[in-house]
Amino acid sequence: MKLVVVLSALVALCAGSAIPVVPGDNSHYVEGESRYIWMPDGEGVPHLVDLQEPVDEDFLRTRNGANNQYWLYTRRNPTNPQVIVNGNANTIWSSNYAASRPLKVIVHGWNSDGNSAINPTIRDAFLAVSDCNVIVVDWRALANGLYATAASGVPGVGQHLGNFLVWLINTAGGNWNNVHLVGFSLGAHVVANAGRQAGGRPVRVTGLDPAGPLWSGNGNAISGNAGTYVECIHTDGGLLGIFNPSGNADFYPNGGRNPQPGCSLSTCSHSRAYDLFASTVHSSHLNGRLCGNINQAQNNQCSGSTLQMGNGNLSKRGNGLYGLSTGANWPF
Ligand SMILES: *[C@@H]1O[C@H](CO)[C@@H](O)[C@H](O)[C@H]1NC(C)=O
Repeated sequence: MKLVVVLSALVALCAGSAIPVVPGDNSHYVEGESRYIWMPDGEGVPHLVDLQEPVDEDFLRTRNGANNQYWLYTRRNPTNPQVIVNGNANTIWSSNYAASRPLKVIVHGWNSDGNSAINPTIRDAFLAVSDCNVIVVDWRALANGLYATAASGVPGVGQHLGNFLVWLINTAGGNWNNVHLVGFSLGAHVVANAGRQAGGRPVRVTGLDPAGPLWSGNGNAISGNAGTYVECIHTDGGLLGIFNPSGNADFYPNGGRNPQPGCSLSTCSHSRAYDLFASTVHSSHLNGRLCGNINQAQNNQCSGSTLQMGNGNLSKRGNGLYGLSTGANWPF
């Protein structure tokens, strides 16, 4: 009996299915092999995720992109959202939406909602530096499901968002060269699908540590065809985030992996991506240097031409991998 227990424990270990015990610590994790990973919710609290949990198709049928909520913030309503409903033009006319101003769209990740920390952090940064429309997408109906189920519904959530943006701009006016989509973790794949649904017209798409588990080799993952210029910022590559280049330009702050400065846990390094981005929207002070290859990026040894990381500049373009060092605390 004891032997059986020991043997099955060994088998479990070999299959990468041992349950990790320290919340937030993903040092056990091997991409493509490990069954369990700690993932942060919208407030950074780690939850244990079973990547082999079957997709709940019944859940997906009712909790999908049709439940997306679109919350508009502007300088006239910086903290109280106005809800815009796809297909109901009156919700635009009665809002502060201004077609002549840039449109920024923010999409949260797993186990989060429109109130999670990422949203006010990035929203406030955008509104501080420009008079713009900020739309926070709340897709909690699906995002609060099991990770594998939420991940499999991400393309649909993105397609609904893409259709909403097409409707908004066709109905109320606006300019795709003024549209910037920003998504964190699973939200990075949401905005990618939204951009593709809109024919790649959004001028900027930013993926903040695009979610890694179940996304490697996934054709619905973020890629360069989501917008005119697609940028990814990798902070927990190989664990909660994708490490491979996934946009036109890819930034690898501090090597792009855990631990980021001031973080000891993977969950902290993952969430660092949106704080770094928000800080660059305020001041655009973090300059990447072009890398010769991904090893240089990982070793933080890039010394080529410079490109500003992040920011809200709609004219920015770039290509390649970029490395840089940051501080441990705001503004990094
Ligand atoms: C925006 O980016 C473009 C292209 O890189 C650059 O020429 C311009 O100076 C930037 N604008 C601001 C306000 O930084």
